[in-house]
Amino acid sequence: MQNLICSKVDCKKVANFRCPTCLKLGISDGVHFCSQDCFRQSWDSHKLQHKQARSVENIKENNSHYTYSGLLRPFPYTPKRIVPDTIVKPDYATHPEGVSFSENRSKSSGVIEVLNKEEITKLKKACKLGREVLDVAAKAIKVGITTDEIDRLVHQACIERDCYPSPLNYYKYPKSCCTSVNEIICHGIPDERPLEDGDIVNVDITVYHDGFHGDLNETFFVGNVDEASKKLVKVTYECLSKAIELVKPGVKYRDIGNVIQKIANQNGVSVVKSFCGHGIHKVFHTLPNVPHYAKNKTTGVMQPGHSFTIEPMINQGTWRDIIWPDEWTAATQDGKRSAQFEHTLLVTETGCEILTIRNDPVFKSQPHFMDNL
Ligand code: MF3
Ligand code: CO
Ligand code: CO
Repeated sequence: MQNLICSKVDCKKVANFRCPTCLKLGISDGVHFCSQDCFRQSWDSHKLQHKQARSVENIKENNSHYTYSGLLRPFPYTPKRIVPDTIVKPDYATHPEGVSFSENRSKSSGVIEVLNKEEITKLKKACKLGREVLDVAAKAIKVGITTDEIDRLVHQACIERDCYPSPLNYYKYPKSCCTSVNEIICHGIPDERPLEDGDIVNVDITVYHDGFHGDLNETFFVGNVDEASKKLVKVTYECLSKAIELVKPGVKYRDIGNVIQKIANQNGVSVVKSFCGHGIHKVFHTLPNVPHYAKNKTTGVMQPGHSFTIEPMINQGTWRDIIWPDEWTAATQDGKRSAQFEHTLLVTETGCEILTIRNDPVFKSQPHFMDNL
């Protein structure tokens, strides 16, 4: 056994003891001291090692002992997909932390932007392309397909349409769309879990094209779904539809939540509070903030030229959410199921235009889950 040297800078004495905190934390790489004196004099810089060790322990702890609220578990996911250099990217796509400065600037301006004619034309185009991409995903949904495979199809469909998949690298989000299964409220990360008979899955698509984002989502049935889940999905779609009917110049953004919560209450389901609809155009998320719950205090009055999403998340049980250790996936706290629908809207002189509406020769504007009811 070799004699250890005191860890205090410039002290060459033989070290007799280890820092008790290091021992308790299981720090193995040798910090030893010859005396209480050297220990005390080194304390300020040494204690940083404890902080570091504690944070590493916390992460391990969270991942191994995390109690999932329902039956769903994370599966491995594939590496970040490549976007060709020919596709114009939003600012956050290349930022190491996925920060969007343009979005932060837009939010802190405090005003809801009114789009001009050219901007409206571009927003409409992005929304139409987003709709096409969601329809590609919809066709692929069946028992056995993994959500990663859906993500691959979505990514490819975006690139074929000269679109950047807006979620990719947004605040480091690792995939090109969100896939939220069963008790997942939103922001589920596509992974290698195959969809099972009886699942419900929401696919949320946002694309960036010619400087504008278009954002929409639908919840789909996988195989044979139980009656309670069917009801949840129908009621959630009704919440979005009835909220859209309200949209016209002069209406307060805070009134949207009252309509949605009323329908939810009548049907014995609850409204998620942590995630809201949002302004969307040149940036992904901006003003107005659009809560889906009643008696909210959000500001702003609808005006022609405003563009924003309504995207109610409705739960079978509690409205409360909990975030997985991956720091994205939002699950219900009681593990019961959640559904969502989203459209991007443009306020017009007389009402609104649903920019992400489905336009199918047979099924017209109806959501995919209704196609085979
Ligand atoms: N599309 C989502 C929305 O409706 C946002 C996804 S952000 C992501 O606002 F980073 F999770 F992709
Ligand atoms: Co969305
Ligand atoms: Co949205």
